[in-house]
Amino acid sequence: MGKIRAAITGINAWVPEYRLDNHEISKLVDTSDEWIMQRVGIKERRILKGEGLGTSDMGEKAVKGLLEKTGTSPDEISLLICATVTPDMFFPATANIICDKVGIKNAFSFDLGAACSGFLFALQTASAYIETGKHKKVIVVGADKMSSIVDYSDRTTCPLFGDAAGAVLLEPTEEEFGIMDSILKTDGSGRKFLHIKAGGSARPASHETVDAKEHFIYQEGQSVFKFAVSNMADVAAEIMEKNNLKSEDIAWLVPHQANLRIIDATGRRMGLAPEKVMINIENYGNTTAATIPLCLWEYEKRLRKGDILILAAFGGGFTWGSIYLKWAYDLK
Ligand code: UT7
Repeated sequence: MGKIRAAITGINAWVPEYRLDNHEISKLVDTSDEWIMQRVGIKERRILKGEGLGTSDMGEKAVKGLLEKTGTSPDEISLLICATVTPDMFFPATANIICDKVGIKNAFSFDLGAACSGFLFALQTASAYIETGKHKKVIVVGADKMSSIVDYSDRTTCPLFGDAAGAVLLEPTEEEFGIMDSILKTDGSGRKFLHIKAGGSARPASHETVDAKEHFIYQEGQSVFKFAVSNMADVAAEIMEKNNLKSEDIAWLVPHQANLRIIDATGRRMGLAPEKVMINIENYGNTTAATIPLCLWEYEKRLRKGDILILAAFGGGFTWGSIYLKWAYDLK
């Protein structure tokens, strides 16, 4: 018997209808389309509007569509992991809520928080469950309602983020497809540059924390940028070296979409032609755990069975990593 690997056998995503473009952002804060396009590369982002709607509602749509698209019954799913930093509530896990809304009843489920690297961490975790041989159909969701933690009076962060959800179905294979290798890293000392100050156990919510706007994203952009550029490029190059992959072997880089300049630097470091790099930051901004599945979903038609993909991300924590996978199917 060959080694059991986890292969992605289906992908789906869901984005809210409302488009918040740079023109509208420039009415909220002192910024311009030109600045945002030049420094970050974002034109518009999707925003989830509606009283009481949260990350699970986007996750629900992504997962329902995934089940329909792959002809999978909710009863067949044995595990669902949701990567998010914007859960509906502290507990229960958003993964549990998604399962309930979709009718997944035979699974256990949990959330995983690794910020912008969340999808990679969750994909690798799910892959390890599949490799045990005990799980036949596992779903990984990357979903974030970033608009719930963005201060729309702060020009240094509000142009960057958007809302979205993506989901993949993973199944075991003994063929040479699926998740081949991963390198995942964290450095908690990076937390000082990117975090939310209050609302957790160290500084619970109070009138004071609300008045001081401490429930929004705090980011020291330039410092995060420096770490992101070097670490994302390094970890993408490292997984290539470790697996003896040359740039010509790689069909696609699937990078986290935080800043076009970070994406370009990673692609260059890997020696890739720009047309081999998946990019959709212009239309959605940084959707945190959803960026990578959102890219895969949009490029799905162009993916071929056997294509070598390198997924790479960097985010809050700090967390970062890369995954080497061989695409397992052609879209019918
Ligand atoms: O995914 C999670 C991980 N996060 C990231 O990867 C984000 C990494 N960081 C970045 O992408 C970039 O640092 C930002 C996009 C956040 C900022 O771009 P930057 O080129 O690093 O700008 P900066 O912070 O160095 O600011 C340059 C100037 C400043 O003005 P002065 O001091 O030079 O007069 C800022 O006040 O740009 C100003 N500025 C803006 N101007 C117009 C900052 N934000 C804006 C804005 N519009 N929205």
